[in-house]
Amino acid sequence: MRKRVGDLSLSIRKISEKANKHEDCVRLDIGQPSFDTPEYVKEKAKEELSKEQSYTSLYGIRELRKAITEGENRKEAVGPMGIDLDPEDVMVTVGATQALYTVFASMLSTDDKVVLDDPCWVPYQTISEVNGNSWEQVDFFDCDGLTDGAKEAIDGAEMVVVNTPTNPTGHVMTREEARELGEYADDAGTLLVSDEVYHRFVYDGKHYSPTAYCENSIVVGSVSKSHAMTGWRIGWLVAHKEPIEDFKKVSRAMIGCPPRINQLASIHAIRNDKHVDEMRSVYRKRRDIVDRRLEDMGLEFKEPQGSFYVFPDVGRYSWSFCLDMIEKGVAMVPGEPFGPGSKENVRICFGSATEKEINRGLDILEEEIS
Ligand SMILES: Cc1ncc(COP(=O)(O)O)c(C=O)c1O
Repeated sequence: MRKRVGDLSLSIRKISEKANKHEDCVRLDIGQPSFDTPEYVKEKAKEELSKEQSYTSLYGIRELRKAITEGENRKEAVGPMGIDLDPEDVMVTVGATQALYTVFASMLSTDDKVVLDDPCWVPYQTISEVNGNSWEQVDFFDCDGLTDGAKEAIDGAEMVVVNTPTNPTGHVMTREEARELGEYADDAGTLLVSDEVYHRFVYDGKHYSPTAYCENSIVVGSVSKSHAMTGWRIGWLVAHKEPIEDFKKVSRAMIGCPPRINQLASIHAIRNDKHVDEMRSVYRKRRDIVDRRLEDMGLEFKEPQGSFYVFPDVGRYSWSFCLDMIEKGVAMVPGEPFGPGSKENVRICFGSATEKEINRGLDILEEEIS
């Protein structure tokens, strides 16, 4: 076990560490919203602090689980399997990250195989490795729908992790894609985990959860990005009741329960969420700017329909390119760790900087590649 952890790499951190040393560097690297948590949420936390503090239920405070189901039930097709959720279908976690780790630790045996999209959010690989699982990345969709490679990989795996809207490309699954993937995993008997932390940031089309089409499925969510609350570390798992019982045991071993005050603040944020719509319209405007500018530069990229990332191909090895670009004044994340097909891509985050900063960063990029 120690050897396994010792071999892990946190290579993307190298970018932020280097960028931190360059004061004027435009930060288009980390997925940290440029918005702070609204004042009324902070005020609520202060108010609650004056009351008695204690552990909460292992599952999380019931009122928060209720607020989460209200949000989940507003999705176009809710999961798992399109059921009308109730608080017993939810467990609160320390961010989506602990939610994901809890699923891996409670549902998989060592050496079970996990299928990931190519490209995908890098910590899925790290969590698989820490948990002793093998993982394979395949491109999930092409213009004909679910790829043959994805079908083959899902057939031979215990679990498939999907993410919509996606980090790093901003792809949003269409209803047809969600249905095809969900039904395929259902037929194959492969557990489907859907990470939907960006579902409030969809600019074109609608959010569809593949878990609405798969009996054996789990939804992962959090307030981190959607409610500008990354530091509060509140996330959740939605599943049928039986897996929730197993999640509880793993969570008991890891954290006991999520912090009380942060749960109470999250209830307030989820139930008073007009700031989410405001942020979405700002992100949409930034998305349009980034889109237009990258197109003008002649770069190849998929237009992001959601999340706050874009993943252009810059035609150069991404690590040396990104390290060099920090010296020139803009920090972006190299594509290589996101998957085998992304050696020459870079991830640009338009959630973390103002329009003016984004334009300045893109001026530097344009000058470099023209
Ligand atoms: C796709 C995806 N899932 C999960 C997370 C982690 O969310 P949290 O901060 O709630 O742990 C992130 C954070 O960047 C993410 O991009």
